[in-house]
Amino acid sequence: MKSVHNAVQEQFSQHADYYAQSRAHARGDTLNVILDFAEPKGTERALDVATGTGFTAFALAPKVGHVVATDLTAAMVSKAAELAAEQAIENVTFSVAAAESLPFATAALDLVTCRLAPHHFQDVPKFLREVHRVLRTDGLFCLADSVSPESEKLIAWQNRVEKLRDNSHVYGYPPSEWDAMITDAGFLIEQTSHVRNAQMSFLWWVRPEQNPPELVQEIRDAFAQLPPEDAKQHYTVRLSGDDFYFSWPMYAVKARRVC
Ligand SMILES: C[S@@+](CC[C@H](N)C(=O)[O-])C[C@H]1O[C@@H](n2cnc3c(N)ncnc32)[C@H](O)[C@@H]1O
Repeated sequence: MKSVHNAVQEQFSQHADYYAQSRAHARGDTLNVILDFAEPKGTERALDVATGTGFTAFALAPKVGHVVATDLTAAMVSKAAELAAEQAIENVTFSVAAAESLPFATAALDLVTCRLAPHHFQDVPKFLREVHRVLRTDGLFCLADSVSPESEKLIAWQNRVEKLRDNSHVYGYPPSEWDAMITDAGFLIEQTSHVRNAQMSFLWWVRPEQNPPELVQEIRDAFAQLPPEDAKQHYTVRLSGDDFYFSWPMYAVKARRVC
């Protein structure tokens, strides 16, 4: 557990400013679907797990009673707190915490959200057990994350490419595995959605200023070796001069704690 957490902290401590400015994280369908699934009534005690620089917590804040925004990486939490102060958002508080060990009493919360983060978690079943524990009966868990297509070859391809670019990537599950894990943790799945964030420029995403040219080329080659129908259907690859645009498949789940 320690080494994955260390890799995450190392990776994200360097990139708090990059995330704070990332349009792919600031908005997009994964955020809209979480807000929709959350059915906010204005009074909820909410938790946003792995909040990063706070985009989901901030979007939720005007619609619920209070949000606690947690993240493993202290630098991300500090940046989020700075942004909340700048934007005069008063009903969000912050805490450094691992998703696999949430610092809340049993049944203390009405709503838990988690967006674009579990592919970095060492132990997703443990995270789901923790979400189940901290939610009251009938409480809602709303998740959106990048997923692999339902194909063994593409699961292996996508996880290899993601890990090459970012060593803190752990595993992108396909939707069927998410459904099974969420159900096993004691939730009833009420709704799911296949969504996408906007396409990203490969050259922006791969961060050539930080990664060695051989690694950038290896990742570029991996995309070039994809069968064209997979590149188009699963990753929306669109060529543009020296660059290309693409997106990861995303999956969102609305799940209720029923027991
Ligand atoms: C892409 S950012 C999150 C984006 C954010 N949820 C949003 O909606 O903009 C991923 C975050 O996950 C956090 N993270 C990764 N593993 C974690 C873990 N095991 N527990 C808590 N946070 C974790 C990282 O520190 C990082 O801030």
